[in-house]
Amino acid sequence: MEEFGKFLGWVTVVCFGLSVLNYVVKKLNFVLRKKLDKEAPVLVMYTKLMKLIIRYHLYFGIGAGVFALLHLCLQLSAGRISLTGLIAVTLMILTVLCGIILKKTGAVARKKVLYVHRSLVVMVILVVIVHLIQMG
Ligand code: HEM
Ligand code: HEM
Repeated sequence: MEEFGKFLGWVTVVCFGLSVLNYVVKKLNFVLRKKLDKEAPVLVMYTKLMKLIIRYHLYFGIGAGVFALLHLCLQLSAGRISLTGLIAVTLMILTVLCGIILKKTGAVARKKVLYVHRSLVVMVILVVIVHLIQMG
């Protein structure tokens, strides 16, 4: 059971990582487009991969939230409490909620909500790093 608890934690990290790629692929796309020919096969393949990551962002994000909650339930049911874990899961749920709001927001407020969404992601990354150092 202990191993399964850890496994759920790592699945959360993977889903979260795939969600963060939404930002990374767009930045990399910007760099690649400057350097490569429009028709270059690498760029064509990269564009397909980028579109997949952007299209499924919502699902990776919700997945991260769900697995974090499952990890939380398992750890709590085993009587294990972690302050860094609790902070991480709270921030992650806020990130997911903010993402959902972002999806429904009109162009005017979008910039501000995106800023909050991104800032929450940075906070989650920092807290999860501390959590992993503590639990590893
Ligand atoms: C965003 C939320 C979270 C993430 C991404 C996360 C991730 C992880 C990962 C990857 C591990 C395994 C580390 C290893 O293999 O050594 C782990 C372990 C652990 N986590 Fe979390 N965690 C989160 C939230 C929580 C919460 C809310 C709690 C408890 C209230 C918690 C309690 C623990 C405990 C007790 C362990 C050690 C398990 C053991 O040694 O068997 N975590 N976490
Ligand atoms: C913990 C999970 C999540 C993480 C780590 C995450 C991460 C990110 C990051 C880093 C960006 C910035 C990308 C950019 O600057 O273009 C972003 C944008 C965005 N996110 Fe999330 N997100 C998560 C969950 C969600 C969820 C659940 C939703 C929707 C239901 C969502 C909707 C959006 C939207 C609409 C954008 C604006 C850019 C776009 O449409 O691709 N996010 N997210």
